[in-house]
Amino acid sequence: MKHPGLSNKIYQSINENFEWSEDNFNKVTSIIKKYPTNKQQSAVIPLLDLAQRQNKGWLSKNAIEKVAETLSMSYIRVLEVATFYSMFNLSPIGEHFIQICRTTPCWLRGSEKLVQVAKEVTQINIGETTSDKKFTVVEVECLGACCNSPMIQINDDYYEDLDPESFRKILLNLKNNQPIKKGSQIGRQTSHPNMRD
Ligand code: FES
Repeated sequence: MKHPGLSNKIYQSINENFEWSEDNFNKVTSIIKKYPTNKQQSAVIPLLDLAQRQNKGWLSKNAIEKVAETLSMSYIRVLEVATFYSMFNLSPIGEHFIQICRTTPCWLRGSEKLVQVAKEVTQINIGETTSDKKFTVVEVECLGACCNSPMIQINDDYYEDLDPESFRKILLNLKNNQPIKKGSQIGRQTSHPNMRD
């Protein structure tokens, strides 16, 4: 399933071939070795993830083709995987990729207010990227941290136990290139009982 609001359109990188960097080529080799002989296609998800990271957070047509070529798969089979999982982006994203969880536990705990804050601070709608390429904001289904709802993901990190004020502070700090606190915003360790309610 794709992020609501994000297009499924596959973008062609203009005049840009995708070639594995030397470092990533070594990683590709060691990832493929983890799978039994003749089962190298099972490496498609880690290789798509690696390609996406090399390509600034999204998969161009060229990058998907490179993964297909590397694993001796047809392009359409790799594309099927890339379009199925919401962890893969098929269009360019901003420096800070904000994923707001909207599934029931987060919704019951106020995720709608977080969406409002994101729109106010970034001045964009869900599924859009700011003109300075600093933020992309999307809504996603459960990210598996329901105990610490409402929560969001920014790039690879989780930000939990949010409220409109703490989320606004995170976004404003990112906007001003200031450091932000990862994890629980109220100091909870993992998902121990919440004493704030
Ligand atoms: S519902 Fe938001 S993390 Fe599960």
